[in-house]
Amino acid sequence: MKKIDCSSCIVEVGNLELSSFPQLLTETYKDARKVIVVDENTHDFCLEYLLTVFPTLEEAEVILLPAGEENKVMEVCFQVLEALSEYGIVRSDLVITLGGGVVSDMGGFIASIYKRGLDCIHIPTSLLGMVDAALGGKTGIDLGSYKNQIGTFHNPKAVFVDQRFLASLPEEEWKSGFAEVLKHALIADKQEWERLIASKQNELFSDESVSQILEKSIAIKSQVVTEDPQENGKRKVLNFGHTIGHAIEGYYLELNRLSHGNCIALGMIAEAFLSNQKGTLNTEELNEVVQVMRALYPCPEDLLTGVSVMTELMKNDKKNDQLGVRICFLDRIGECSWNHLIDGNDIKMALNYLYQAYYKN
Ligand SMILES: NC(=O)c1ccc[n+]([C@@H]2O[C@H](COP(=O)([O-])OP(=O)(O)OC[C@H]3O[C@@H](n4cnc5c(N)ncnc54)[C@H](O)[C@@H]3O)[C@@H](O)[C@H]2O)c1
Repeated sequence: MKKIDCSSCIVEVGNLELSSFPQLLTETYKDARKVIVVDENTHDFCLEYLLTVFPTLEEAEVILLPAGEENKVMEVCFQVLEALSEYGIVRSDLVITLGGGVVSDMGGFIASIYKRGLDCIHIPTSLLGMVDAALGGKTGIDLGSYKNQIGTFHNPKAVFVDQRFLASLPEEEWKSGFAEVLKHALIADKQEWERLIASKQNELFSDESVSQILEKSIAIKSQVVTEDPQENGKRKVLNFGHTIGHAIEGYYLELNRLSHGNCIALGMIAEAFLSNQKGTLNTEELNEVVQVMRALYPCPEDLLTGVSVMTELMKNDKKNDQLGVRICFLDRIGECSWNHLIDGNDIKMALNYLYQAYYKN
């Protein structure tokens, strides 16, 4: 069992049965009632295992969320809060999330506000949840097309990453999670980036390789979060690709849903371009980033019809200050800096570049 410290929260990577999860259930939370939050897919593919292997959970209340980003909204949270109240859940009870980033973001948020905060344990089931969303204590709910506009910092008591849950994950969602794996390497570890891009896809997702990917990627995120838990500085590097990526995700949310990771991959191309334009990333490395992302992730043909809407969405991004839109620049592969100011013209240029990177011929 690999144990990684993520800002005073222990992340255990390995077989859940051999982790400290059973002990937490039978000792620390022995008298607490348990609430398990799942979505439709993790209800069908992951819950049975949990209930079978950990019999103390048979009496848990199960909260079933509708699957998908479009449901990461306050309306659904209100329904869950009402259910918790009806079940008589009290402050000393425990919320366990079993799902991808939408489940950990919503379950974590609800745990953080119900009765001023319940303890929460995340068991991520998507690659994206394992390497990113379940770590670091940020919770988030969307407001219309604005991503994660409502949220809290609520560090989970523990995170248990067991890659066996990935067995039922659809291929599209593997790719989505892999975008955040690539991002972690791009911002912090050139050697890992080179290893990832040199691997063949069938080798990359073998059990052994996935275990290596998880440990490496979780370690990168955990180190950054531990250094700056409240995102006052350094933690912002984790947002590389996310300012433009979230605007793309917000724009397509109601049109033709693109996965979170796909949008972040497109955002990384656009933000790498701006890094190059502003004199940080060299052109050779920019081309390498574009080539890797383009080979894995599609770009909608009608991207440019959304430029003005996406620009508006970026103006409301959480990382901005009174002076305007702030993004991260890739300085070189493996190093990233934050708080760079860009304007509407930069955004337009970056989206045009992104489109040209896919459709110039
Ligand atoms: N809080 C943070 O720090 C943070 C960081 C990154 C991303 N996020 C958020 O995470 C979300 C994206 O996470 P995601 O990609 O995991 O989304 P998700 O939770 O919607 O999961 C993607 C899909 O995979 C399904 N799924 C999950 N695990 C499965 C399994 N084992 N078997 C079969 N199906 C499974 C889900 O039901 C869903 O349909 C976004 O809302 C994003 O904003 C949060």
